[in-house]
Amino acid sequence: MEQNGQDHLEALGRYALRFARPGDVIGLGTGRAASAFINALGASLIQVRGVPTSRASEDLGRSLGIEVVSLADAPKIDTDFDGADEVDPRLNLIKGYGGALVREKIVAASSRRFIVLVGEEKLVKRLGARGTLPVEVVPFGVPLAARKIAALGLKPKVRQQDGIDFVTDNGNLILDCGVKDIRNPARLDRELLSIPGVVGTGLFVGMASMVLVARSSGKIETLRPR
Ligand code: A5P
Repeated sequence: MEQNGQDHLEALGRYALRFARPGDVIGLGTGRAASAFINALGASLIQVRGVPTSRASEDLGRSLGIEVVSLADAPKIDTDFDGADEVDPRLNLIKGYGGALVREKIVAASSRRFIVLVGEEKLVKRLGARGTLPVEVVPFGVPLAARKIAALGLKPKVRQQDGIDFVTDNGNLILDCGVKDIRNPARLDRELLSIPGVVGTGLFVGMASMVLVARSSGKIETLRPR
């Protein structure tokens, strides 16, 4: 099953290549689906420049011979390709289980088109279905942010990896916030962003231009905002 899932992601990565043209500036997302796309892009030999959303995607892109540039060098991105942890029927997203949410959102917001690559298990009726919303916080602000987030009814917990605090590429911590159904993602996003020390949330509201879904049947479905 896991192997099938990986095969489906590889097929999805190859399928997404039709949206990349020679000379484009491409956002290089983070995670398994985005890596499948980056691998396909490297193998395709389509000449693009890539703006990475994390050190991991930067390393992967470079290792495949993709020219990696910064946002300062290429402030306008043609198409950003990234994964997601949840996708709702309006194509709002939760991202950040991989910890790259802040750079991912900056790159997506710098892009003319934001294409999301997921397996069908990421489709949810309402955001929050998988129970976690990642929020990036500057370390100094964690006590205040945790208190304020708890007052909003969420259950924040500092993300750990190998027994120590997980530190993002920006030197910050992640509060993984226990959530149930999120009824109004845009409002929750605003409430979280108003807390001093919160750098970004995993809520990507109204950002996706298209979602490509790898179905377990092997088919790829295209979803567009209605
Ligand atoms: C990284 O911070 C995340 O936003 C990823 O894009 C997301 O977790 C999806 O990753 P997978 O494709 O590995 O599930």
